[in-house]
Amino acid sequence: MLSKVKSMSLMGVEGYLVDVQVNVSGGMPSWEVVGLPDTSVRESKERVRTAIQNSDVEIKSRKMIINLAPAYTKKEGPSFDLPIAVGILMSIGAVEHQLLEDSVFIGELSLDGSVNQVNGILPMCIEAYHMGIQKVYIPYDNRMEAGTIEGLQVYPVKTLKELILHLNGETLLKTFQTDVTSYFQKFNQHEVDFLDVKGQENVKRALEIAAAGSHNCLLIGNPGAGKTMLARRIPTILPDLNFEEALEVTKIHSIAGILPENIPLVTTRPFRAPHHTVSGVALSGGGRIPKPGEMSLAHHGVLFLDELPEFNRNALEVMRGPLEDRQITVSRAMCTLTYPCNFMLIASMNPCPCGFFGSKEKKCTCHPTQIAKYMSKISGPLLDRIDLHIEVLPVKYEQLEKRSAAESSEVIRQRVNNARKIQEERYKAYGIFSNAELTTHLLEEFCKLDEGGRTLLQKAFDKLGLSARAYGRILKVARTIADLEASKTIEVKHVAEAIQYRTLDKRYQK
Ligand SMILES: Nc1ncnc2c1ncn2[C@@H]1O[C@H](COP(=O)(O)OP(=O)(O)O)[C@@H](O)[C@H]1O
Ligand SMILES: [Mg+2]
Ligand SMILES: [Zn+2]
Repeated sequence: MLSKVKSMSLMGVEGYLVDVQVNVSGGMPSWEVVGLPDTSVRESKERVRTAIQNSDVEIKSRKMIINLAPAYTKKEGPSFDLPIAVGILMSIGAVEHQLLEDSVFIGELSLDGSVNQVNGILPMCIEAYHMGIQKVYIPYDNRMEAGTIEGLQVYPVKTLKELILHLNGETLLKTFQTDVTSYFQKFNQHEVDFLDVKGQENVKRALEIAAAGSHNCLLIGNPGAGKTMLARRIPTILPDLNFEEALEVTKIHSIAGILPENIPLVTTRPFRAPHHTVSGVALSGGGRIPKPGEMSLAHHGVLFLDELPEFNRNALEVMRGPLEDRQITVSRAMCTLTYPCNFMLIASMNPCPCGFFGSKEKKCTCHPTQIAKYMSKISGPLLDRIDLHIEVLPVKYEQLEKRSAAESSEVIRQRVNNARKIQEERYKAYGIFSNAELTTHLLEEFCKLDEGGRTLLQKAFDKLGLSARAYGRILKVARTIADLEASKTIEVKHVAEAIQYRTLDKRYQK
């Protein structure tokens, strides 16, 4: 007898519907799964059969054919165990045969019949909701994630037996809803604060601009100047995530399986700091069972690359395209996947191999050719995509000793938030959230300069020999500086400050 059950699967970060058709008939006992199953789906046989037996249902050896449609997409992972089991149970009459057009089943089975957590529940449930599905039966441990979607009846399932009783109308399962607002209200706690950093007012100012406009930036300075310390405090001043962004980030973290337990929704911006030994693949994502890489895990947040020149060339190379496109395409045998990766890059580096080029305290021992080689590693591909170059000079002893009244991260964050709100409002119709995302076309519309601004920029170009790329970067940063003052127009002083953050264009000109 033929049964049909609906399930969901993943393509990149989006869920899609899969029809699970099960036919059980007499004849030679066999088990066949068709419709491009991968190894873990083919291996569902043992899990499903044993789980059914351990749910007090007798299952005789019969001819079973399971078809997963659409046939052209590769079905991965163990999340089809549950719909396959339900299909078999209906076909053999252990579950009353019924139309389940409005329901979706997702979950991995253990041999004992318990339903295990799976990755990617959020994107699957979002798509189910968009398709008009009303009920989702999901693993109990995924309930917080699934429960964030208002308007979906979420049934958390602990065991197959429980589900059988529910479908037969004997003992009904309870639905679950997550209280999303309470998660957004939970305060954003950090162990560090900009209060800890003495002096460095100009660097803090630059980082405030970077956070406000989501600008890529490079911290450059001698060892011990405080680069790592400053960068580690950036998460404390990042603007709040809006709900739309939170869902996007959660989708990716859900697929990667890194959502912390009991956290249904990521409500703070990610801060990813991979070690310099990270591989190109770990940065971009992919793999046999495809997963998003570090660049995507940093979506709507920060990717921090400490000691940039230490990273291997290949890793730096793979970042070029995604930094510009804000998405990554991973090619696979059957198809190509796209992962979003709209992140803000924060990188740090010493000015030369020995670290002391330009230092007043210690003499640099590097030969100019060594310095040129060192810089060339990051120059072309990455430097072009960085909006702010921030020079970090070591603070003086007197300043370290001083009990200065520095600003707290919270005060800075308020200003960043205000500036970001202005941007979100301005770009509402354009599908972007921040100044850093402005395309050449939008740049012309939103970053108009007055006569004074144009003259200043012209002079700077002639005098400093800035590249054409630097032009757009300066305009975007000037826009953010104006937004921090809630100024509608970009004024000369905003342009003047933005030009200051292009020091490397001057120092290391070819
Ligand atoms: N402005 C500062 N205020 C307070 N401590 C500082 C400051 N700058 C540096 N330090 C101290 O020096 C240490 C080394 O700084 P670090 O961030 O590791 O330097 P870098 O990454 O530039 O080599 C920090 O952990 C901190 O204890
Ligand atoms: Mg450091
Ligand atoms: Zn040196």
